[in-house]
Amino acid sequence: MNDTLLSVSNLQAAYGHARVLFGVSFDVRPGEVVTLLGRNGMGRSTTVKCLFGMLPATAGSIAIAGRAMQGAPSHCIARQGLALVPEGRQIFAQLTVQENLLATARQAADAQQPWTLERVYGLFPRLKERRENLGWQLSGGEQQMLAIGRALMTNPKLLVLDEATEGLAPVIREEIWRTLRALKAAGLAQIVIDKNVRNLLTLADRHYVIDKGRTVWHGDSATLQQHPDVVHQYLGV
Ligand SMILES: Nc1ncnc2c1ncn2[C@@H]1O[C@H](COP(=O)(O)OP(=O)(O)OP(=O)(O)O)[C@@H](O)[C@H]1O
Ligand SMILES: [Mg+2]
Repeated sequence: MNDTLLSVSNLQAAYGHARVLFGVSFDVRPGEVVTLLGRNGMGRSTTVKCLFGMLPATAGSIAIAGRAMQGAPSHCIARQGLALVPEGRQIFAQLTVQENLLATARQAADAQQPWTLERVYGLFPRLKERRENLGWQLSGGEQQMLAIGRALMTNPKLLVLDEATEGLAPVIREEIWRTLRALKAAGLAQIVIDKNVRNLLTLADRHYVIDKGRTVWHGDSATLQQHPDVVHQYLGV
């Protein structure tokens, strides 16, 4: 029995001739919350694109529950239990909230507490009120809730959130952080990419720092807290 949900090893990738990832390695265990930290442009979103089959890796390996998945298309990654809340949200602007939620819905035979429309509406009552509205009619915060809800409707084992609090009002950000804590309490593993280190330290179990396309540091929240030098050197805060 392999108790690693996701294992990424020495991942390398490029946009055309421009190499961007030179060796990214990390792993996630079931129920664990892990962060990818780093300054702007260091390769976190590129790592996510490789993970979801949106950009081919030029080298390295990606395994989900021990099964090699590098090179697999996005729908196969989803079937293995990974769901993405992408940078910039990317909801369907011309579909209603409810249609957005149903568009990617997927049953998971092994889900103990499956995600349904009602469960997502319980998590985000605001989405229930707005269920007949079109994507483009939503506020930024509502769009973000919808992007999270849509990902949950695939009944994932691992939720990957790329800058989910970016550009939101403080009160909405707090709601997103509360939601991520609730999802963790419900046992959902997460990879969280965000600028707010303080919130990440309380939410996450472990952290990986990516600098210029390489993982350069990893450790748990207590260890990161004891190393303000790491935060200063690699995150500039
Ligand atoms: N589609 C693309 N074509 C060419 N270069 C790209 C493309 N997307 C990203 N890059 C470059 O790849 C590098 C890594 O970008 P990436 O989006 O992975 O960074 P990041 O860590 O997510 O940071 P942030 O989201 O804060 O910008 C950057 O130098 C960026 O300019
Ligand atoms: Mg990014």
